[in-house]
Amino acid sequence: MTLEIVVGTQWGDEGKGRIVDLLAAQADVVARYNGGDNAGHTVTVGSQTFKLHLLPSGLIHPHALGLLGNGMVINPASLIQEMEMLRAAGIQVDPRRLVISYAAHLITPGHKALDRALESARGAGLIGTTGRGIGPAYTDKAARRGLRVLDMLDPAEFRRKMRRHIHDVNQQLQGLYAAEPLEVEAIAAEFEGYAVQLKPYIGDAGARAADALAAGKRVLGEGAQGTLLDLDQGTYPFVTSSTPTAPGVLTGLGLGIPHGPVRVIGVTKSFQTRVGAGPFPTEVQGAAAERLRGTGANPWDEYGTTTGRPRRVGWLDGVLLRYAVRVNGLTELMVTKLDVLSGLPAIPICTAYRYQGRQIEDLPLGPSDLSPFEPVCQELPGWQENLGPVRAWGELPTAARAYLDKIAEISGVPVSLVSVGPERDQVVLKEKDRD
Ligand code: IMP
Repeated sequence: MTLEIVVGTQWGDEGKGRIVDLLAAQADVVARYNGGDNAGHTVTVGSQTFKLHLLPSGLIHPHALGLLGNGMVINPASLIQEMEMLRAAGIQVDPRRLVISYAAHLITPGHKALDRALESARGAGLIGTTGRGIGPAYTDKAARRGLRVLDMLDPAEFRRKMRRHIHDVNQQLQGLYAAEPLEVEAIAAEFEGYAVQLKPYIGDAGARAADALAAGKRVLGEGAQGTLLDLDQGTYPFVTSSTPTAPGVLTGLGLGIPHGPVRVIGVTKSFQTRVGAGPFPTEVQGAAAERLRGTGANPWDEYGTTTGRPRRVGWLDGVLLRYAVRVNGLTELMVTKLDVLSGLPAIPICTAYRYQGRQIEDLPLGPSDLSPFEPVCQELPGWQENLGPVRAWGELPTAARAYLDKIAEISGVPVSLVSVGPERDQVVLKEKDRD
């Protein structure tokens, strides 16, 4: 049995989808454990690019069983659309290979309307959410008034709960935000239809994961978003409302403390990006930013998969990376998009912060408020070669290897893989016996 967990070490968008796709080739079970369709995982297979928001990326492999864990918030409309999108691409999606946890919560149009209303009310202090209703759905979960996947199994009761929920939402929309109310009956009828379609998929995802581990199989937990967006460990309040960090796989999938081998893989982009508001110490603007972001002409340029928003960009932040190693218990790092850095004369990497006239290597009170910190960067030599065709560690330019070594040194964990382009095979594994 092996539990493998893939987590983002930054603010999401690290390229986890393609790493999961790679690891899923050997996994028996692939599972999402947090968040909802705020996530956007891009996987390129030949001429096809899949943009997945809810389903585990590993489902693209025909042998894998996909699980949607209880830690998720699921918009059934998006889920059904995504299932159909995969089917249209020739990927089988049926109850034999997809189980939705009975205990996951549902996202409704009410949650989306509240998300929008709350963001407008925040004015200048807005979080920059994806507008998918994530925060309000988790709010209802914590307030013990949420709608769960399980509720869809009893149509009459589901209709009653849905009516009450939309009625409550309307009271908030009209009373607090002067917004238009939603159509109670239309939404209730719409969700009855979703319930019929999803009923065969509802099951005990946690039990399926536990059984697989007990049978000596490999379970791959696919974290959405990233460490710095974690509700507890992230840059609060500029975070999402779930637990993307590795420990979230236990509560979000319904697993106990594992007693077998656990591999915790942190995916880190070779630079840093952020969507939405909040402090970003190594952020760059102008020409440097355009260079890292790309023009948007390619699907892998730095524009949100879910929202299409241009991402904020900056240099790799080693202080935050060290923090991510600690709170996730990372055992290794996989570095993505190294090819994007080709052609730069020098590459700054942040190794410490300057704070109140002194240099600090770790955050005194976590990453909640990063605004007082000024990055202390080391400049490493760049390389000019196109990395796209490289497939062996030894073929990487010396400067590129030195950059990866620096990442390993700063973080304290080994770099086991680097990606050099969006295609499935554009990855370079670090051979343990060489280098
Ligand atoms: P929410 O998850 O929609 O509530 O958004 C909260 C914050 O998390 C915002 O700053 C979003 O931009 C950010 N966020 C949510 N999901 C993702 C993601 O998959 N990638 C990057 N940022 C995300």
